[in-house]
Amino acid sequence: MTLFSDHYTSMMQHETKSATEWMAFEDQTQLGTYNKWPIPLVKAAGAMVEDVEGNQYLDLYGGHCVAFLGHNHPEVVKAIKAQADDLLFYSNAVYAPVRARASARLARLAPEGMNTVFFVNSGAEANEVAMKIARKATGRAHVVGVEGDFHGRTMGSLSTTWAKKYRDGYEKAFGPVSFAPFGDADAAVQVIRDASPAAVIVEPIQSMGGMRTADRSYFEALRLACDETGAMLIFDEVQTGVGRTGSFSYAQTIGVIPHMITMAKSLGGGVPVSALILNDEVAATVGPGEQGTTFGGGMLAMAAVDAALRVVEEEKLSERALLVWDALAEGCNERGLRYQGAGCLMGIDFGQPVAPIVAGLRGHHILTGGSANPNIMRLMPPAVVTREQVDQFFTALDAVLQQLEEVDA
Ligand SMILES: Cc1ncc(COP(=O)(O)O)c(C=O)c1O
Repeated sequence: MTLFSDHYTSMMQHETKSATEWMAFEDQTQLGTYNKWPIPLVKAAGAMVEDVEGNQYLDLYGGHCVAFLGHNHPEVVKAIKAQADDLLFYSNAVYAPVRARASARLARLAPEGMNTVFFVNSGAEANEVAMKIARKATGRAHVVGVEGDFHGRTMGSLSTTWAKKYRDGYEKAFGPVSFAPFGDADAAVQVIRDASPAAVIVEPIQSMGGMRTADRSYFEALRLACDETGAMLIFDEVQTGVGRTGSFSYAQTIGVIPHMITMAKSLGGGVPVSALILNDEVAATVGPGEQGTTFGGGMLAMAAVDAALRVVEEEKLSERALLVWDALAEGCNERGLRYQGAGCLMGIDFGQPVAPIVAGLRGHHILTGGSANPNIMRLMPPAVVTREQVDQFFTALDAVLQQLEEVDA
Protein backbone atom coordinates (compact mmCIF):
# COMPACT_ATOMS: atom_id res chain seq x y z
CA MET A 1 0.00 0.00 0.00
CA THR A 2 1.51 3.32 -1.03
CA LEU A 3 0.53 6.84 -0.02
CA PHE A 4 0.63 8.00 -3.63
CA SER A 5 -1.04 6.69 -6.74
CA ASP A 6 1.28 4.82 -9.08
CA HIS A 7 1.06 7.67 -11.54
CA TYR A 8 2.03 10.28 -8.96
CA THR A 9 4.89 8.14 -7.67
CA SER A 10 6.26 7.64 -11.14
CA MET A 11 6.13 11.39 -11.84
CA MET A 12 7.89 12.19 -8.56
CA GLN A 13 10.68 9.80 -9.46
CA HIS A 14 11.40 11.81 -12.59
CA GLU A 15 11.55 15.35 -11.31
CA THR A 16 13.70 16.45 -14.23
CA LYS A 17 10.99 16.89 -16.78
CA SER A 18 10.80 19.12 -19.81
CA ALA A 19 8.40 22.05 -19.97
CA THR A 20 6.11 20.00 -22.22
CA GLU A 21 6.04 17.12 -19.75
CA TRP A 22 5.24 19.42 -16.84
CA MET A 23 2.35 20.96 -18.77
CA ALA A 24 0.93 17.56 -19.65
CA PHE A 25 1.25 16.47 -15.99
CA GLU A 26 -0.60 19.56 -14.75
CA ASP A 27 -3.34 19.24 -17.37
CA GLN A 28 -4.11 15.71 -16.19
CA THR A 29 -5.67 16.91 -12.93
CA GLN A 30 -6.38 20.64 -13.29
CA LEU A 31 -9.89 21.79 -14.21
CA GLY A 32 -9.66 22.82 -17.84
CA THR A 33 -10.77 26.41 -17.42
CA TYR A 34 -7.57 28.37 -17.98
CA ASN A 35 -5.92 29.11 -21.27
CA LYS A 36 -2.34 28.98 -19.98
CA TRP A 37 0.84 30.21 -21.58
CA PRO A 38 3.22 27.32 -22.28
CA ILE A 39 5.76 28.28 -19.61
CA PRO A 40 5.90 26.28 -16.36
CA LEU A 41 7.47 28.74 -13.93
CA VAL A 42 9.65 27.84 -10.98
CA LYS A 43 11.41 31.06 -9.94
CA ALA A 44 11.11 34.82 -10.02
CA ALA A 45 12.86 37.96 -8.82
CA GLY A 46 12.09 41.61 -9.55
CA ALA A 47 10.66 41.92 -13.04
CA MET A 48 12.02 38.54 -14.17
CA VAL A 49 10.52 35.04 -14.02
CA GLU A 50 12.18 31.73 -14.90
CA ASP A 51 10.75 28.48 -16.25
CA VAL A 52 11.69 24.84 -15.55
CA GLU A 53 14.19 24.85 -18.40
CA GLY A 54 15.97 27.97 -17.12
CA ASN A 55 14.45 30.35 -19.69
CA GLN A 56 14.00 33.85 -18.26
CA TYR A 57 11.20 36.22 -19.17
CA LEU A 58 10.69 39.93 -18.59
CA ASP A 59 7.28 40.07 -16.90
CA LEU A 60 5.38 43.15 -18.06
CA TYR A 61 2.15 41.27 -17.27
CA GLY A 62 3.23 41.47 -13.62
CA GLY A 63 1.99 38.03 -12.59
CA HIS A 64 -1.57 39.13 -13.47
CA CYS A 65 -1.14 42.60 -11.96
CA VAL A 66 0.07 41.15 -8.65
CA ALA A 67 3.81 41.85 -8.72
CA PHE A 68 3.78 45.64 -8.36
CA LEU A 69 6.71 45.38 -5.91
CA GLY A 70 8.50 43.02 -8.24
CA HIS A 71 8.37 39.26 -7.77
CA ASN A 72 9.62 37.75 -4.50
CA HIS A 73 10.45 41.07 -2.90
CA PRO A 74 13.06 40.16 -0.26
CA GLU A 75 11.27 42.14 2.48
CA VAL A 76 7.99 40.30 1.87
CA VAL A 77 9.75 36.93 1.69
CA LYS A 78 11.61 37.71 4.94
CA ALA A 79 8.42 38.79 6.69
CA ILE A 80 6.41 35.71 5.75
CA LYS A 81 9.27 33.38 6.61
CA ALA A 82 9.52 34.94 10.07
CA GLN A 83 5.75 34.86 10.52
CA ALA A 84 5.59 31.23 9.43
CA ASP A 85 8.11 30.37 12.13
CA ASP A 86 6.03 32.11 14.81
CA LEU A 87 2.35 31.65 13.94
CA LEU A 88 1.04 30.65 10.54
CA PHE A 89 -2.62 31.12 11.22
CA TYR A 90 -5.35 31.83 13.65
CA SER A 91 -8.73 33.22 12.67
CA ASN A 92 -10.53 36.41 13.71
CA ALA A 93 -11.55 34.63 16.89
CA VAL A 94 -8.42 36.22 18.32
CA TYR A 95 -6.53 39.53 18.21
CA ALA A 96 -3.11 39.54 16.59
CA PRO A 97 -0.44 42.27 16.62
CA VAL A 98 0.50 41.52 13.01
CA ARG A 99 -3.11 42.13 11.92
CA ALA A 100 -3.28 45.32 13.97
CA ARG A 101 -0.11 46.61 12.28
CA ALA A 102 -1.22 45.73 8.73
CA SER A 103 -4.66 47.22 9.30
CA ALA A 104 -3.30 50.46 10.75
CA ARG A 105 -0.84 50.85 7.89
CA LEU A 106 -3.56 50.32 5.28
CA ALA A 107 -5.96 52.73 7.00
CA ARG A 108 -3.22 55.37 7.20
CA LEU A 109 -2.48 55.08 3.48
CA ALA A 110 -6.18 55.11 2.50
CA PRO A 111 -8.02 58.37 1.72
CA GLU A 112 -8.87 60.58 4.67
CA GLY A 113 -12.02 59.55 6.47
CA MET A 114 -11.63 55.90 5.39
CA ASN A 115 -10.34 54.49 8.63
CA THR A 116 -11.78 50.99 8.72
CA VAL A 117 -10.49 47.85 7.05
CA PHE A 118 -11.97 44.36 6.51
CA PHE A 119 -9.55 41.74 5.22
CA VAL A 120 -10.74 38.99 2.92
CA ASN A 121 -9.01 36.73 0.42
CA SER A 122 -9.65 37.73 -3.19
CA GLY A 123 -10.77 40.65 -5.31
CA ALA A 124 -14.16 39.09 -6.00
CA GLU A 125 -14.73 38.47 -2.30
CA ALA A 126 -13.88 42.06 -1.38
CA ASN A 127 -16.35 43.38 -3.97
CA GLU A 128 -18.94 40.89 -2.80
CA VAL A 129 -18.65 42.10 0.81
CA ALA A 130 -18.83 45.75 -0.24
CA MET A 131 -22.11 45.13 -2.09
CA LYS A 132 -23.50 43.09 0.79
CA ILE A 133 -22.77 45.88 3.24
CA ALA A 134 -24.42 48.45 0.96
CA ARG A 135 -27.50 46.24 0.55
CA LYS A 136 -27.95 45.78 4.27
CA ALA A 137 -27.25 49.40 5.17
CA THR A 138 -29.66 50.82 2.59
CA GLY A 139 -32.28 48.07 2.77
CA ARG A 140 -32.21 47.98 -1.04
CA ALA A 141 -31.26 45.16 -3.40
CA HIS A 142 -30.46 46.89 -6.68
CA VAL A 143 -26.83 47.47 -7.68
CA VAL A 144 -25.63 49.59 -10.58
CA GLY A 145 -22.56 48.30 -12.38
CA VAL A 146 -20.73 49.91 -15.27
CA GLU A 147 -20.51 48.73 -18.86
CA GLY A 148 -17.11 47.17 -19.52
CA ASP A 149 -16.29 46.52 -15.84
CA PHE A 150 -14.88 43.29 -14.43
CA HIS A 151 -15.48 42.61 -10.73
CA GLY A 152 -14.80 38.90 -10.31
CA ARG A 153 -16.39 35.47 -10.53
CA THR A 154 -18.41 34.99 -7.34
CA MET A 155 -22.16 35.33 -7.88
CA GLY A 156 -22.54 38.92 -6.62
CA SER A 157 -19.37 40.25 -8.22
CA LEU A 158 -20.17 38.38 -11.41
CA SER A 159 -23.61 39.95 -11.53
CA THR A 160 -21.95 43.37 -11.91
CA THR A 161 -19.33 42.14 -14.38
CA TRP A 162 -20.24 43.35 -17.84
CA ALA A 163 -18.90 40.79 -20.33
CA LYS A 164 -21.57 38.34 -21.43
CA LYS A 165 -19.10 35.47 -21.75
CA TYR A 166 -18.55 35.47 -17.96
CA ARG A 167 -22.22 35.92 -17.07
CA ASP A 168 -23.74 33.37 -19.43
CA GLY A 169 -25.33 30.43 -17.61
CA TYR A 170 -25.57 32.22 -14.24
CA GLU A 171 -27.95 35.12 -14.91
CA LYS A 172 -30.88 33.44 -13.19
CA ALA A 173 -28.98 33.52 -9.89
CA PHE A 174 -28.30 37.25 -10.00
CA GLY A 175 -29.94 39.97 -7.94
CA PRO A 176 -31.28 43.09 -9.67
CA VAL A 177 -28.49 44.91 -11.51
CA SER A 178 -28.43 47.60 -14.16
CA PHE A 179 -25.45 48.94 -16.05
CA ALA A 180 -24.44 52.54 -16.56
CA PRO A 181 -22.20 53.62 -19.44
CA PHE A 182 -18.52 54.24 -18.67
CA GLY A 183 -17.39 57.83 -19.08
CA ASP A 184 -20.80 59.33 -19.93
CA ALA A 185 -21.70 61.18 -16.75
CA ASP A 186 -25.19 62.33 -17.76
CA ALA A 187 -26.30 58.88 -18.92
CA ALA A 188 -24.80 57.21 -15.83
CA VAL A 189 -26.52 59.63 -13.48
CA GLN A 190 -29.83 58.86 -15.19
CA VAL A 191 -29.33 55.11 -14.63
CA ILE A 192 -28.55 55.74 -10.95
CA ARG A 193 -31.59 57.99 -10.48
CA ASP A 194 -33.86 55.43 -12.17
CA ALA A 195 -32.55 52.51 -10.11
CA SER A 196 -32.13 54.28 -6.76
CA PRO A 197 -29.72 51.44 -5.93
CA ALA A 198 -28.00 50.18 -2.82
CA ALA A 199 -24.63 50.70 -4.49
CA VAL A 200 -22.82 51.77 -7.60
CA ILE A 201 -19.69 49.74 -8.25
CA VAL A 202 -17.10 50.93 -10.75
CA GLU A 203 -13.66 49.86 -11.88
CA PRO A 204 -12.15 53.33 -12.22
CA ILE A 205 -9.61 52.16 -14.79
CA GLN A 206 -11.18 49.35 -16.81
CA SER A 207 -8.37 46.86 -17.04
CA MET A 208 -9.97 44.08 -19.08
CA GLY A 209 -11.53 46.91 -21.06
CA GLY A 210 -8.00 47.80 -22.23
CA MET A 211 -7.12 50.21 -19.38
CA ARG A 212 -9.90 52.61 -20.30
CA THR A 213 -10.02 55.79 -18.24
CA ALA A 214 -12.72 58.40 -17.79
CA ASP A 215 -12.63 62.08 -16.85
CA ARG A 216 -12.50 62.98 -13.20
CA SER A 217 -15.88 64.71 -13.73
CA TYR A 218 -17.47 61.32 -14.48
CA PHE A 219 -16.49 59.93 -11.07
CA GLU A 220 -17.53 63.15 -9.39
CA ALA A 221 -20.96 62.83 -11.03
CA LEU A 222 -21.23 59.21 -9.80
CA ARG A 223 -20.44 60.34 -6.25
CA LEU A 224 -22.99 63.18 -6.38
CA ALA A 225 -25.69 60.88 -7.82
CA CYS A 226 -25.00 58.37 -5.04
CA ASP A 227 -25.30 61.08 -2.40
CA GLU A 228 -28.53 62.30 -3.99
CA THR A 229 -30.12 58.82 -4.13
CA GLY A 230 -28.67 57.45 -0.87
CA ALA A 231 -26.55 54.85 -2.67
CA MET A 232 -23.00 53.85 -1.78
CA LEU A 233 -20.20 54.36 -4.27
CA ILE A 234 -17.69 51.50 -4.44
CA PHE A 235 -14.39 51.85 -6.29
CA ASP A 236 -13.06 48.46 -7.33
CA GLU A 237 -9.36 49.22 -6.94
CA VAL A 238 -8.34 45.58 -7.09
CA GLN A 239 -5.85 46.59 -9.79
CA THR A 240 -5.48 50.35 -9.39
CA GLY A 241 -4.85 50.22 -5.63
CA VAL A 242 -1.62 49.87 -3.65
CA GLY A 243 0.16 52.69 -5.44
CA ARG A 244 -0.06 51.69 -9.08
CA THR A 245 -1.36 55.00 -10.43
CA GLY A 246 0.86 57.47 -8.60
CA SER A 247 -1.11 57.62 -5.34
CA PHE A 248 -2.00 54.85 -2.94
CA SER A 249 -5.50 54.64 -4.42
CA TYR A 250 -6.85 55.88 -7.73
CA ALA A 251 -9.44 57.75 -5.66
CA GLN A 252 -6.57 59.86 -4.32
CA THR A 253 -5.04 60.23 -7.78
CA ILE A 254 -8.25 61.81 -9.13
CA GLY A 255 -9.43 63.37 -5.86
CA VAL A 256 -12.86 61.70 -5.83
CA ILE A 257 -13.45 59.64 -2.72
CA PRO A 258 -16.06 56.86 -2.71
CA HIS A 259 -17.78 55.26 0.29
CA MET A 260 -15.84 52.01 -0.06
CA ILE A 261 -12.68 50.87 -1.86
CA THR A 262 -11.63 47.30 -2.56
CA MET A 263 -8.01 46.28 -3.08
CA ALA A 264 -6.37 42.95 -3.85
CA LYS A 265 -3.71 41.90 -6.42
CA SER A 266 -0.52 43.63 -5.16
CA LEU A 267 -1.73 44.07 -1.58
CA GLY A 268 0.18 41.09 -0.21
CA GLY A 269 3.19 41.40 -2.51
CA GLY A 270 2.22 38.02 -4.04
CA VAL A 271 0.47 36.42 -1.07
CA PRO A 272 -3.30 36.06 -1.62
CA VAL A 273 -5.18 38.69 0.36
CA SER A 274 -7.67 41.45 -0.28
CA ALA A 275 -9.25 44.25 1.67
CA LEU A 276 -12.34 46.37 1.85
CA ILE A 277 -11.69 49.91 3.06
CA LEU A 278 -14.74 51.73 4.41
CA ASN A 279 -15.49 55.30 5.33
CA ASP A 280 -16.49 55.93 8.91
CA GLU A 281 -20.18 56.34 8.14
CA VAL A 282 -20.45 53.01 6.27
CA ALA A 283 -18.31 51.21 8.85
CA ALA A 284 -20.77 52.29 11.55
CA THR A 285 -23.59 50.41 9.79
CA VAL A 286 -21.93 47.00 10.26
CA GLY A 287 -22.65 45.17 13.48
CA PRO A 288 -20.97 42.18 15.14
CA GLY A 289 -21.33 38.93 13.23
CA GLU A 290 -22.65 40.51 10.02
CA GLN A 291 -19.54 39.72 7.98
CA GLY A 292 -16.92 37.05 8.42
CA THR A 293 -14.37 34.81 6.81
CA THR A 294 -12.09 32.20 8.30
CA PHE A 295 -8.91 33.03 6.42
CA GLY A 296 -9.37 36.80 6.03
CA GLY A 297 -6.83 38.61 8.19
CA GLY A 298 -4.77 35.45 8.76
CA MET A 299 -1.28 35.99 10.13
CA LEU A 300 0.73 34.98 7.08
CA ALA A 301 -1.28 37.29 4.83
CA MET A 302 -1.06 40.11 7.38
CA ALA A 303 2.72 39.82 7.60
CA ALA A 304 2.77 40.04 3.81
CA VAL A 305 0.49 43.11 3.75
CA ASP A 306 2.49 44.88 6.44
CA ALA A 307 5.77 44.25 4.62
CA ALA A 308 4.37 45.02 1.16
CA LEU A 309 2.87 48.35 2.21
CA ARG A 310 6.11 49.29 3.98
CA VAL A 311 8.01 48.57 0.76
CA VAL A 312 5.54 50.62 -1.32
CA GLU A 313 6.21 53.60 0.94
CA GLU A 314 9.94 53.18 1.58
CA GLU A 315 10.82 52.48 -2.03
CA LYS A 316 8.49 55.23 -3.28
CA LEU A 317 6.90 52.78 -5.69
CA SER A 318 4.06 55.15 -6.64
CA GLU A 319 6.62 57.62 -7.93
CA ARG A 320 8.47 54.85 -9.73
CA ALA A 321 5.19 53.72 -11.30
CA LEU A 322 4.94 57.12 -12.96
CA LEU A 323 8.49 56.81 -14.30
CA VAL A 324 7.63 53.42 -15.80
CA TRP A 325 4.58 55.05 -17.39
CA ASP A 326 6.73 57.88 -18.82
CA ALA A 327 9.25 55.45 -20.30
CA LEU A 328 6.51 53.32 -21.88
CA ALA A 329 4.64 56.40 -23.11
CA GLU A 330 7.81 57.73 -24.75
CA GLY A 331 8.30 54.48 -26.66
CA CYS A 332 4.66 54.48 -27.76
CA ASN A 333 4.87 58.12 -28.86
CA GLU A 334 7.96 57.38 -30.95
CA ARG A 335 6.01 54.67 -32.76
CA GLY A 336 2.73 56.58 -33.07
CA LEU A 337 0.95 54.05 -30.83
CA ARG A 338 -2.05 55.22 -28.82
CA TYR A 339 -2.13 54.27 -25.14
CA GLN A 340 -4.29 54.77 -22.05
CA GLY A 341 -4.30 54.01 -18.33
CA ALA A 342 -2.11 55.41 -15.56
CA GLY A 343 1.14 54.50 -13.80
CA CYS A 344 1.86 50.78 -13.97
CA LEU A 345 -1.35 50.06 -15.89
CA MET A 346 -1.15 50.69 -19.62
CA GLY A 347 -3.28 49.62 -22.55
CA ILE A 348 -1.62 50.03 -25.96
CA ASP A 349 -3.85 50.19 -29.02
CA PHE A 350 -2.19 48.61 -32.07
CA GLY A 351 -5.14 49.08 -34.40
CA GLN A 352 -4.76 45.38 -35.26
CA PRO A 353 -5.22 42.14 -33.29
CA VAL A 354 -2.65 41.91 -30.50
CA ALA A 355 -2.82 38.12 -29.99
CA PRO A 356 0.01 37.43 -32.49
CA ILE A 357 2.02 40.35 -31.05
CA VAL A 358 1.65 39.01 -27.49
CA ALA A 359 2.70 35.54 -28.71
CA GLY A 360 5.59 37.03 -30.68
CA LEU A 361 6.83 38.95 -27.65
CA ARG A 362 6.68 35.76 -25.60
CA GLY A 363 8.98 34.28 -28.23
CA HIS A 364 11.34 37.14 -27.33
CA HIS A 365 10.92 36.23 -23.65
CA ILE A 366 8.67 39.15 -22.76
CA LEU A 367 5.28 38.61 -21.10
CA THR A 368 2.39 40.93 -21.95
CA GLY A 369 -1.38 40.41 -22.03
CA GLY A 370 -4.41 40.94 -24.19
CA SER A 371 -7.71 42.55 -23.18
CA ALA A 372 -11.40 42.43 -24.04
CA ASN A 373 -10.56 44.75 -26.91
CA PRO A 374 -8.72 42.51 -29.40
CA ASN A 375 -6.58 45.44 -30.56
CA ILE A 376 -5.37 46.49 -27.09
CA MET A 377 -2.40 44.98 -25.30
CA ARG A 378 -2.31 45.24 -21.51
CA LEU A 379 0.83 45.96 -19.50
CA MET A 380 0.70 45.71 -15.70
CA PRO A 381 4.42 45.87 -14.98
CA PRO A 382 6.19 45.89 -11.63
CA ALA A 383 7.26 49.38 -10.56
CA VAL A 384 10.85 48.13 -10.48
CA VAL A 385 11.04 47.72 -14.27
CA THR A 386 14.12 49.60 -15.47
CA ARG A 387 14.58 51.92 -18.41
CA GLU A 388 16.74 49.22 -20.05
CA GLN A 389 13.93 46.69 -19.68
CA VAL A 390 11.46 49.11 -21.27
CA ASP A 391 13.93 49.57 -24.15
CA GLN A 392 14.22 45.79 -24.40
CA PHE A 393 10.43 45.61 -24.74
CA PHE A 394 10.31 48.12 -27.56
CA THR A 395 13.25 46.54 -29.41
CA ALA A 396 11.46 43.18 -29.28
CA LEU A 397 8.17 44.82 -30.24
CA ASP A 398 9.75 46.39 -33.34
CA ALA A 399 11.11 43.00 -34.36
CA VAL A 400 7.75 41.27 -33.82
CA LEU A 401 5.82 43.91 -35.75
CA GLN A 402 8.34 43.75 -38.58
CA GLN A 403 8.07 39.97 -38.68
CA LEU A 404 4.26 40.11 -38.75
CA GLU A 405 4.38 42.66 -41.55
CA GLU A 406 6.64 40.37 -43.58
CA VAL A 407 4.26 37.44 -43.07
CA ASP A 408 1.32 39.61 -44.22
CA ALA A 409 3.17 40.94 -47.28
C1 LIG B 1 -10.73 45.01 -11.37
C2 LIG B 1 -10.87 43.63 -10.84
N1 LIG B 1 -11.79 43.38 -9.90
C3 LIG B 1 -11.96 42.15 -9.37
C4 LIG B 1 -11.17 41.10 -9.78
C5 LIG B 1 -11.36 39.74 -9.16
O1 LIG B 1 -10.28 39.47 -8.34
P1 LIG B 1 -9.96 37.94 -7.94
O2 LIG B 1 -9.55 37.24 -9.18
O3 LIG B 1 -8.85 38.08 -6.94
O4 LIG B 1 -11.21 37.41 -7.35
C6 LIG B 1 -10.19 41.31 -10.76
C7 LIG B 1 -9.36 40.18 -11.22
O5 LIG B 1 -8.68 40.21 -12.20
C8 LIG B 1 -10.04 42.60 -11.30
O6 LIG B 1 -9.13 42.86 -12.23
